[in-house]
Amino acid sequence: MLKTSVLLACLAFSTIVADGNYFQVLIREIDNPAGTLKNGQPCSNFGFLGAGCNTWMKAVATASGTNISNINLPAAIQINKNMETRVSNLNLVVSDDYLDSVDAFTGFDLRVVLGTDSDSTNIIDDYIIHVSSNQEQGVYTYTSLRDGTLATTISIAWSTNIAPQSTTATPEPTTTGVPFTGSTAVPTTTPRPPVDCSEVVNVTSGVQTVYPDGMTPVSVYCDQTSYGTYTVIQSRGVVGQNITFDFPSVSNYSAAFGEPGIGNNYWFGLDNMHVLSGVKPYALQIDLCCGTKLIAKQVYHNFKIDTAEKFYKLTAVADISGVGLDYSNSGKDLAAAFSTSTEWHGPKAHDSCDQFEFFDDDSSIDPPPQSKPYGGWWYGSCGNNMNGFLYPSRSGNCTVPLEIFDANGMLGVNMRTTPGLGFNGYDVDLQSYDRVRMALFTFDSSTIDRTDSSFCN
Ligand SMILES: *[C@@H]1O[C@H](CO)[C@@H](O)[C@H](O)[C@H]1NC(C)=O
Ligand SMILES: *[C@@H]1O[C@H](CO)[C@@H](O)[C@H](O)[C@H]1NC(C)=O
Ligand SMILES: *[C@@H]1O[C@H](CO)[C@@H](O)[C@H](O)[C@H]1NC(C)=O
Ligand SMILES: *[C@@H]1O[C@H](CO)[C@@H](O)[C@H](O)[C@H]1NC(C)=O
Ligand SMILES: *[C@@H]1O[C@H](CO)[C@@H](O)[C@H](O)[C@H]1NC(C)=O
Repeated sequence: MLKTSVLLACLAFSTIVADGNYFQVLIREIDNPAGTLKNGQPCSNFGFLGAGCNTWMKAVATASGTNISNINLPAAIQINKNMETRVSNLNLVVSDDYLDSVDAFTGFDLRVVLGTDSDSTNIIDDYIIHVSSNQEQGVYTYTSLRDGTLATTISIAWSTNIAPQSTTATPEPTTTGVPFTGSTAVPTTTPRPPVDCSEVVNVTSGVQTVYPDGMTPVSVYCDQTSYGTYTVIQSRGVVGQNITFDFPSVSNYSAAFGEPGIGNNYWFGLDNMHVLSGVKPYALQIDLCCGTKLIAKQVYHNFKIDTAEKFYKLTAVADISGVGLDYSNSGKDLAAAFSTSTEWHGPKAHDSCDQFEFFDDDSSIDPPPQSKPYGGWWYGSCGNNMNGFLYPSRSGNCTVPLEIFDANGMLGVNMRTTPGLGFNGYDVDLQSYDRVRMALFTFDSSTIDRTDSSFCN
């Protein structure tokens, strides 16, 4: 009883090395890549730009075996005030100075509460870490799990002079996370592998391996530019193999397929897009080329792909409204689920979707040829389909003559670049691009040269 009340009074942030026995935890870095509270709400109105949470932290540590949920938390201290998502070089020491009853070091508990103010009115995260170890010092990285939003990661080190339980065996540290108020913890002791191209060490342009879920390797094309690093999640073109993008089921688009590379045909997979877009706020850039000419570079902030259960719904904020994914006619691709012609989840009726019905409906063609659908997409407006049929290049003219479309009954790789209705009042234009890509990035989009056509060359 006495020992617990002493702990209550005396655990606090400190940089003093105690006389006699000591046990200290150094909090090195805290990362909240989603920039959100525990309930998934963004901390800032500028979350769409990647702004994070101004964070106050309370932390207690004990090697004494005292039940740490019963120890009062010290006063919170503010660890950042400029909306950084990652706070590095924190180097805060949490001491447990009252270790009289501890005669052997077997590990410790650390409780951390992160909030948006000193009273923890809005909780960003809270958890208890239990580290089992008889090593006198070590480092440890812990990743929490927050329902519906991305985890926070804390990097710590510990140091003690308490002798270990046994001097004959010094096993590797083993670690287990103890969930606290809903957090289910998956601790990790190794550095996180790169989730995207920007995290690949010394990245250069080319095919690289990334691990969107932290474990499963995915080959992807990384484009290292003077603005920053792009992770290319979709590309079409006439350079590599000409493979089909036409599958019957949404689930056929869940995994990656194709061949990464500039001008190649590649799909990162909807599951990877879902997982990756939950890791941190991404912007999406769409590049459309005809021959070597850049037709459009469209940027969308806060790109997110929902779960398979929600049919991989796409959300993002367009920087130019009314075109591309933001083109609207009884629906937009932004906010649309992923559909195929035979598995329909679109906001408008399948039979009103001009991506499939254009040739059936266009009265200027007599008799109308039968439309053939091609490719799964987020069919919201039905004005776009970057997964469409790849028409052979027509010497830098992507305005495909109606006769060529008629003969095939398919629109091509198309994406609206103009606002308002398209050809003859339909939602589609008659463009089929011969090189396109969708690429994710996290750098400041204002640095992008919107006229840079290097991808098209
Ligand atoms: C620690 O204390 C909390 C609150 O009193 C209790 O719910 C929990 O079961 C205790 N844990 C252990 C390991 O004793
Ligand atoms: C990355 O580049 C730095 C500086 O050139 C070099 O010291 C380091 O070894 C490189 N790391 C890897 C993994 O290639
Ligand atoms: C598409 O998905 C269906 C249903 O999951 C599966 O039976 C079929 O083999 C897949 N087709 C291809 C080409 O992967
Ligand atoms: C791709 O293959 C299809 C089917 O074989 C063919 O009709 C089409 O013209 C090809 N596209 C290119 C760009 O070669
Ligand atoms: C591109 O092709 C379309 C359809 O054949 C034609 O009307 C147009 O004049 C062509 N544009 C150029 C620049 O050749």
